Amino acid sequence: MRIFLTGGAGYIGSHTLLEVLSQDHEVCVFDDYSNSTPESLRRVETLTNRKFKTVEGSVLDPQCLTQALQEFKPDAVIHFAGKKAVGESVEKPLMYYENNVVGTLNLLRAMEAANCERIIFSSSATVYGDPQFLPITEDHPLGATNPYGQTKLMAEHILRDWAQSRPTASAVILRYFNPLGAHESGRIGEDPNDIPNNLMPYVAQVAVGRRDRLRVWGNDYDTPDGTGVRDYIHVVDLAKAHAAALGFGETHQGCETINIGTGRGYSVLDVVGAFELAAGRAIPYDIKPRRSGDIATCYADPAKAKRLLGWRAEHDLADMCASTWKWQSQNPDGYDS
Ligand SMILES: NC(=O)c1ccc[n+]([C@@H]2O[C@H](COP(=O)([O-])OP(=O)(O)OC[C@H]3O[C@@H](n4cnc5c(N)ncnc54)[C@H](O)[C@@H]3O)[C@@H](O)[C@H]2O)c1
Repeated sequence: MRIFLTGGAGYIGSHTLLEVLSQDHEVCVFDDYSNSTPESLRRVETLTNRKFKTVEGSVLDPQCLTQALQEFKPDAVIHFAGKKAVGESVEKPLMYYENNVVGTLNLLRAMEAANCERIIFSSSATVYGDPQFLPITEDHPLGATNPYGQTKLMAEHILRDWAQSRPTASAVILRYFNPLGAHESGRIGEDPNDIPNNLMPYVAQVAVGRRDRLRVWGNDYDTPDGTGVRDYIHVVDLAKAHAAALGFGETHQGCETINIGTGRGYSVLDVVGAFELAAGRAIPYDIKPRRSGDIATCYADPAKAKRLLGWRAEHDLADMCASTWKWQSQNPDGYDS
């Protein structure tokens, strides 16, 4: 198959790129490198010993996007390109709506011009808002509590309406829970440009001495140790879910929404403890007040992914920590190392 990956140089994109190349698909990566570097692509090329096409461009540039799609003529698109920091989305909502919503609209128009009707979209468990029951199934009520989540919800609506309007189109919306970890080689991993927003890259940067201490936001939640509980999913499992969704999309028509999680939750202190074991060093932390908008517990019901995609997570928290540590200790300054 010919696969067009927007945002393919980023964290999840680069791991998915590696996975689809190892399955012999032909790939074109389309990325503006606003939150990544071409170095991730060079490393994937070395790891897989496979060549692939790259186009530097933004999904906010319809002309460039249409030209790239018309030239590559993909069978399917995986759409990772977007902004993902919840806090930044509160400060810069218009930038988020533009990138994530207008970018998705531009992509669908460009796909129509290139006669491509299959898309896999990166959505997020944030679209569920405050959990009303657990585990979270795909029919859980929706209600994002921040602009980032709203952009994902809007993009989902657009994709659903688009798929409905075209009898042979397929849109597969994957709602990721909390991606963690790195490829087992330690050559690619998560490399935040700024202060990490997510727990694991922050923990990893404390472990290598780039940051002093971890801040744990609240230890008075109604959870076993008082800290927030999340469903962490290994990025390599997540990449394999995209490969499975590509196969599913070949015969699927319409729009399907699928949770990608493990079905089990770990607390912040579970993650800290597992990382200390993997790295063989202590992670100093301070307990801080709860952050507004944070929830106590969230984990997926992943049964639909098993049923429709034949996929389930295979890696556990220890694997996620060990691979993150390998990546971070071998690349203390990320791709600049
Ligand atoms: N990492 C998470 O915790 C998480 C959770 C749920 C959903 N998601 C979604 O998954 C997708 C990938 O996330 P990630 O963690 O790999 O993020 P990332 O920032 O590492 O990757 C996104 C990639 O898209 C590129 N990009 C951004 N805006 C672009 C634009 N306008 N045009 C072209 N390229 C652009 C960036 O340069 C980067 O390479 C995002 O859509 C994100 O919202 C991520």
